[in-house]
This record gives sequence, structure tokens and C-alpha cells, in this order.
Amino acid sequence: MRHLIVPEDLTAHEIEAVFAVSRDLEEKYDAGRRDALLPGRVLALVFEKPSLRTRVSFEAGMAHLGGSSIFLGEDAGFSSSRESIADFGRVLSEYVDVIVCRSKVHASIEQLAAVASVPVINGLSDYCHPCQALADIYTLRRHVGRVAGHTLAFVGDGNNMARSLAMLCGLLGMRFVLAAPRAYQFDESFRQHLKKVLPEAEIEETTDPVAAVTDAAVVYTDVWASMGQEKERQQRTSDLRPYQVNEALMKHCPNALFMHCLPARRGEEVTDGVIDGPQSVVVEEAANRMHVQKGLLAWLLGPQK
Ligand code: CP
Ligand code: NVA
Repeated sequence: MRHLIVPEDLTAHEIEAVFAVSRDLEEKYDAGRRDALLPGRVLALVFEKPSLRTRVSFEAGMAHLGGSSIFLGEDAGFSSSRESIADFGRVLSEYVDVIVCRSKVHASIEQLAAVASVPVINGLSDYCHPCQALADIYTLRRHVGRVAGHTLAFVGDGNNMARSLAMLCGLLGMRFVLAAPRAYQFDESFRQHLKKVLPEAEIEETTDPVAAVTDAAVVYTDVWASMGQEKERQQRTSDLRPYQVNEALMKHCPNALFMHCLPARRGEEVTDGVIDGPQSVVVEEAANRMHVQKGLLAWLLGPQK
């Protein structure tokens, strides 16, 4: 039994295996086929934060695979005074075959996985968002073929998305560059963790967005204030303003793709011209969330595991 809590829970070889199942399922989906690989299986979605993409892509994907889903919002009492995470996780594991959890605090997902007797998938925490990063790299592959050797430039806050992409790029032999003010770059403990897990990885940090995007295959950004950071919004907006991804910045990389996990704050981290422009693949990324998660569910619950 396997969990996906952080991107490095998968090896490069396993990511290829998941992508292969995802691609096969995507082709069948496009041809109107919904192969019921997981009949009767049940997915629980335990969410402490809002979601459109993650919730719907998992629920729709599970339905295509012949299974079903149960959405558990805050009233279910996960990580609250109602009961312990250990009791919650042990009991939920008796009813369902797989759990997707979106938590306020990353440690809550770790605690859930530690007691669950079914696979737990991180559907976003303050620390990372592995499902989104997998879908992003799957999207990039569709455009460039082999991803190794390419550069992903992340411009903006060194947040959960930046950490996930840095780790995934490192795992798959891509160069990753974060352009952010020093206070928004990675913290020392994450840098040390990266070095330990991926000593050979090309992961760089700079304060210069132009240097970061030059020669990049992908320019990526995300909101300046993530869910849970609403009170810091004003300060973050003012600090990160010079890191907006706009037409002037994209002129330095006319062949790069533009990516964003969404939801976006148009006019803040990205302009309408870029997100709606010819380099943008944001809707394709969102669509690929479903294909990749179907591959992940089939791989995790299938005979391989
Ligand atoms: N990208 C993403 O995870 O979107 P949601 O917050 O809508 O799930
Ligand atoms: N960094 C964002 C990603 C949303 C998908 C957040 O955590 O709110």
C-alpha cells in the first residue's frame, strides 16, 4: 500500500508508470470510452479548504473508472476538536478504498497517512501540492516530449506549488529556477531537504525574473497569497509586485509555455494578456489534473500495488 504525500514519494520510474496509465485513459476518454477499472471502489475527499479543480477532477475521474466518491467538508471534523486524526483515519479506512486530503497544515495529512490502512493522496497542503505538479509535468511532456534538460522558471512566491515543482523537476532531470525576493525564496530546511533527496538536482534561486525566464521551457506562477494567508495579502502584493508575469517578461522567452495552477488573481501575479495569450496552457493543465489522477488512482489501487 502506497501514499502520495510529497512528490518524492514516487520515483522517476513510478511517475513514468503513472503517466503511461494516465495517457492510456486519456486516449480512451477522448474516444468516448470509460473503462471501469475500479468498480465498486470508493474515494473519500477530506477537504479543509475550498477547491474546484481538485475536488471535481477526482470525483469525475473516479466516476469514469466505475467507482464513487464521498466529499467530506469541515463538518466531518477532520483535524478538529471533534476527534483525533488517528481515530478519524482508522475509522474512515474501514469504509473507503482511498482518501484524498486537502489540509490546512501539512502535518495533519502526515498523521492521517500514518494511521490509514488505505492509500492517502495529498490534495494540497500548505507545504506542497503533488497532484498539481504531476499534471503540470504531464502537460509539459505533451508539448516538448522528454522533459529532462528543460528549465521551469517559477516567478513569484516560493510556496507549496514552487516546492512541489522544484522537487518534481529535480526527480525528472529538469532544471528549476525560482525568481522571488529573498524573503519569498525557499527556507533553509527545504533547501537542505532538496540537497539530501536530490544531491544532483539543478535547483536555483534568484531575485531576477528576467534571468530566470530566459531559456525557460515553462514560466510558472501562482497567487501571491495562498489559502490561509489572506491576512498577509496586502504586504505580499506589495512585495511581489515586481514579479508579475506580464507581456514584457514573456518577451524574454517567446517560445516558453505559460503555466498557472489556478485559481489566478488576474492583474496581480499574471496579466490577462499572458494568461489568455498564445503561450498559456492553463486550461490544459487543469484538464490534465483529471487524466493524471485517474492514472494515479488506477496505479495505486490496481494490481501493480
Ligand atoms: N489547482 C487547484 O488545486 O485548484 P483548486 O484549489 O480549485 O482545487
Ligand atoms: N498556492 C495556492 C495553490 C492553490 C491551488 C494555495 O495554496 O492557495
